[in-house]
Amino acid sequence: MSAQELRPVAITGTGSYLPEKVLTNADLQRMVDTSDEWIVERTGIKERRIAADDEATSDLAIAAGREALTNAAVKAEDLDLIIVATVTPDMAFRATACFVQKTLVAQKATYFDVSAACSGFLYGMELARQFIATGSAEKALVIGADKLSAIIDCTDRNSCVLFGDGAGAAVLQPAGEGTGEILSAYSGSNGNLDEILNVPGGGSRQPLTAENIGDKSNTMKMAGREVYRHAVTTMMSAAKEAIARAGLTPDDIACFIPHQANLRIIETIAGKLHVPMERFFVNLESYGNTSAAAVAIALDEAQRTGRIKSGDHILMVVFGGGLTWASSVVRW
Ligand code: ACO
Repeated sequence: MSAQELRPVAITGTGSYLPEKVLTNADLQRMVDTSDEWIVERTGIKERRIAADDEATSDLAIAAGREALTNAAVKAEDLDLIIVATVTPDMAFRATACFVQKTLVAQKATYFDVSAACSGFLYGMELARQFIATGSAEKALVIGADKLSAIIDCTDRNSCVLFGDGAGAAVLQPAGEGTGEILSAYSGSNGNLDEILNVPGGGSRQPLTAENIGDKSNTMKMAGREVYRHAVTTMMSAAKEAIARAGLTPDDIACFIPHQANLRIIETIAGKLHVPMERFFVNLESYGNTSAAAVAIALDEAQRTGRIKSGDHILMVVFGGGLTWASSVVRW
């Protein structure tokens, strides 16, 4: 199909879900050798949400997905496609999207999961956009959902203070009268840097045994400083690329919605792009880094709180383990 035949695609509804339980910096102070002052100064995070023991990633995903469907006025039974981006699936197999399809009763929908860590939501959004642009689907539900508390070593102060649980979702449909449009998308990956952020155990390379569970090889390992350095450079270049592909400049972007990992990363990017922080949407102080959910939750909150209005250009830019990165400009 030639580029001329591709249909423009819009986000027609968003939703999000955060678990009830709040874990504050003061709570963490009682668990590991850290302080509220250190966490706030180095990351900007004040508290995060933690899923209940009986709440799986799909439960978070379903709640966010339901809200997005309601806001888009789309019935689950009319969905053609469900994509769940997650690195904390309910089970090694089947796909977390399977639980979403079953519970929402979206029997017509093809479903699958995407594994791209914190970049997963934008990877999923681009896949859904292409399904719709080529006419393979009419209505898609894309969800970023992670229960990182399930794979965090809560005795490791280097990582346990950074992360939280949550889910965000968007419904995508062909653009039409009164809708916005996804104007550009860009993504990249670097498999050579897989060692600086990963969960080594629990897969086929290192199936869990009594010994390696003791070594906590089923929890996240992160070289924080290295990740920080790559996050700044790749998010910067990804932001510029999506803006250029949309034929715009940073001045044209009303709201920047970056991955919510660390306030210092966001402030550095804002400074390098010469964009005031007021144009960046930040909610990491309340939720920490929720991985694939972070940018989707931020998009939903920015929309609900009036930070983005019809006709605004918004930029989403993400970065995550793999390493992976992605960006997209949307006219709202
Ligand atoms: N409380 C108190 N001290 C701590 C803590 C803590 N929670 N964590 C580390 N420290 C100590 C370190 O041990 C170190 O002590 P030392 O100097 O005696 O060795 C000191 O603080 C400084 O450590 P650094 O790692 O240099 O601190 P930095 O300023 O780099 O901040 C941080 C660490 C917050 C992890 C930062 O590097 C960062 O945000 N990196 C990016 C992490 C990230 O975004 N990961 C996820 C991205 S992808 C995804 O989302 C899955």
